[in-house]
Amino acid sequence: MPITPRRYHITTFGCQMNKADSERMAGILETMGLEWSENPNDADVLLYNTCTIRDNAEQKVYSYLGRQAKRKHGQPDLILGVAGCVAQQEGEALLRRVPELDLVMGPQHANRLQDLLEQVFDGNQVVATEPIHIIEDITKPRRDSTVTAWVNVIYGCNERCTYCVVPGVRGVEQSRTPEAIRAEMESLGQQGFKEITLLGQNIDAYGRDLPGIATSGRRQHTLTDLLYFVHDVPGIERIRFATSHPRYFTERLIQACAELPKVCEHFHIPFQSGDNDILKAMARGYTHEKYRRIIDMIRTYMPDAAMSADAIVGFPGETEAQFERTLALVRDIGFDQLNTAAYSPRPNTPAALWENQLSETVKTDRLQRLNHLVGQQAMERSQRYLGRVEMVLVEGENPKNPRQLMGRTGGNRLTFFEGNIDDLQGQIVAIQITEARAFSLTGRPLVAVAAS
Ligand code: SAH
Ligand code: SF4
Ligand code: F3S
Repeated sequence: MPITPRRYHITTFGCQMNKADSERMAGILETMGLEWSENPNDADVLLYNTCTIRDNAEQKVYSYLGRQAKRKHGQPDLILGVAGCVAQQEGEALLRRVPELDLVMGPQHANRLQDLLEQVFDGNQVVATEPIHIIEDITKPRRDSTVTAWVNVIYGCNERCTYCVVPGVRGVEQSRTPEAIRAEMESLGQQGFKEITLLGQNIDAYGRDLPGIATSGRRQHTLTDLLYFVHDVPGIERIRFATSHPRYFTERLIQACAELPKVCEHFHIPFQSGDNDILKAMARGYTHEKYRRIIDMIRTYMPDAAMSADAIVGFPGETEAQFERTLALVRDIGFDQLNTAAYSPRPNTPAALWENQLSETVKTDRLQRLNHLVGQQAMERSQRYLGRVEMVLVEGENPKNPRQLMGRTGGNRLTFFEGNIDDLQGQIVAIQITEARAFSLTGRPLVAVAAS
């Protein structure tokens, strides 16, 4: 007898790519007639969309899986699947570790979920991890927000940073065509979405795998060209993009951001380390001087632009003096936000095999020192908003205080204020900032301006 599951749940770990993949997978499940179940324990189809960027992310997945595998013993119809980066990394080995699994599928297979599930319904245990050409999105994602949306522009990564699993688990770069990206944005604009974040692991690589029209010798499909191509999509008020790589970041891109009013004044450009020898060992392909020049150039065009980045402490062989160069870079630049992590050795990456690994004690100590500086700086950077009027796109209610609404400034600062969600959701509201914390602001609305 064929199984007829009714309810699904997807638990998502990891980065924005995974969140975007989960929204597309949820869209596929809904077109198959399944309904979202908020509680994973009530779902008949349960998917974990997983992350393996650091060891603690991977271990978290196994602890969740262990619990659900037990549940399956009492409920044999439960369909249990692992998608995303752990699935890609482990492949068949996951079935040996958790034999209760029905489905193991890598990130490149997200759009094939229906096909794969049908094989599961037929009684197969399915592993889909072979590299494929990603099929164009054929489904309508079930988006978490009605105001902001992600749009993938390039999948995969061709870099070979020596610490990083992403190229191994996400595969080679595959750009979507400018026409497909614009069409998705137009449809989002029509549905009432106001803000789009264009996504890629190395978004500056956008287009280099697309066939070009050789005219001036310049690549025809760059991120900059894409921004010009999509910036006038009706209904879309704000455009963001992530993640930028310092090696490929261009002045042309900064000029486009300065010139195009819908592109937000926020740059997320990971630097990873402030020391040139460590950057070389990471195979990042730039120096801290080049990184500083990029920031200077951004600040020449846009003095008030918000800056954020990622950094790793405790990379193999990192000395105290080298770590202090990371602190110095952070001190000199003044980030609005910084995602920090202690280096974690990962499977199938060169740096994991090196013998000069640092102790957990050293890594934790450096992480705490860096985080302390980041908190201080973010607090200082936040002060510049006090008394100012910021344009905030209202996303929803503050989950911690139902009297407050929340949204983001153009510079991506989370902002809270009192108001009525039915009137203001999706609107861009002028907010006078009255309180500034390290990573968020509070203010009061002046006038509500129509968003379109
Ligand atoms: N494509 C982006 C980010 C990819 S992963 C870039 O090139 O910067 C997100 C962040 O996780 C990285 O920027 C890095 O800071 C961190 N990260 C990646 N691998 C890591 C590892 N093995 N240990 C600790 N942090 C890591
Ligand atoms: Fe990983 Fe480097 Fe690619 Fe970023 S650019 S995803 S850090 S390999
Ligand atoms: Fe994690 Fe995969 Fe993203 S490893 S950070 S979910 S690309």
